[in-house]
Amino acid sequence: MYENLNFEVKNKIAYIKINRPKALNALNSAVLDELYAVFSEASSNDEVMAIILTGEGKAFVAGADIAEMNKLTALEGKEMMAKGHAVMNFIESVNKPVIAAVNGFALGGGCELAMACDIRIASENAKFGQPEVNLGIIPGFGGTQRLPRLVGKGMGKYLIMTGEMISADEAARIGLVEKVVPAEELIGTAEKVAKTILEKAPIAITAAKSTIDIGYNLDMAAASRLEIEACAAPFSSDDRKEGMGAFLEKRQAKFNNK
Ligand code: CAA
Repeated sequence: MYENLNFEVKNKIAYIKINRPKALNALNSAVLDELYAVFSEASSNDEVMAIILTGEGKAFVAGADIAEMNKLTALEGKEMMAKGHAVMNFIESVNKPVIAAVNGFALGGGCELAMACDIRIASENAKFGQPEVNLGIIPGFGGTQRLPRLVGKGMGKYLIMTGEMISADEAARIGLVEKVVPAEELIGTAEKVAKTILEKAPIAITAAKSTIDIGYNLDMAAASRLEIEACAAPFSSDDRKEGMGAFLEKRQAKFNNK
């Protein structure tokens, strides 16, 4: 049981909802600990093949908890940022697709949390930004690194240095989110994307995720070597035999996930 999260598993999808609406789902230490624990639980549950993360109320997450941070010394601040990084890195490393269904404010640590997920679907009313400079700090849960990697260095610097809050449509235009939908279609759309991925060969999805994430930070020569190894490995798998066999026999593939 979690104090600040709702967690359920239905039809191979784990639904994680951050449930601290009074503080706009702000990430304090307790929420960060629970996020780590729930992603651990979802990751090790064989029934779970995809994860959807969302927030309760009008925010996805409005950032790290400012009231908690206000009391921290530099050393304690470092510990909190390290904890945030551990959570974001863990979410990114989970060997199942993670979809952020961004239902409202995704600011500071909330934008960073969405960026640690594989795919971002936003409702039309969602708002994104890295407003930390207003508070005398900079993004501390990965924003200075993941944001420029997603939207480019210039736009990353623009958003971090101005602290500007942008609409879901603008976030889609710059590549920070993949799809924008009406609020009432948010979870349904995230489920549709998850189900599309679940129809594919599980071994290929896991390999695609890790090859993209690890290769993104390598030089091209090393990344090419990584891809050769990662693409070769599934050749001896049942999923590969089924996928290619089904194509050649002109029938629908039936992978291990069915
Ligand atoms: N931390 C703690 N509490 C927060 C919070 C946060 N990040 N964001 C909102 N809250 C609290 C408010 O203090 C308020 O609490 P009370 O009712 O007890 O006063 C409650 O949530 C509702 O918030 P508002 O009344 O402000 O709601 P609003 O609709 O008027 O404004 C908002 C919404 C524009 C998102 C505004 O709440 C806001 O600007 N929040 C802060 C956003 C921010 O600066 N985020 C970055 C945090 S720093 C960070 O994340 C560092 C990092 O990289 C790790």
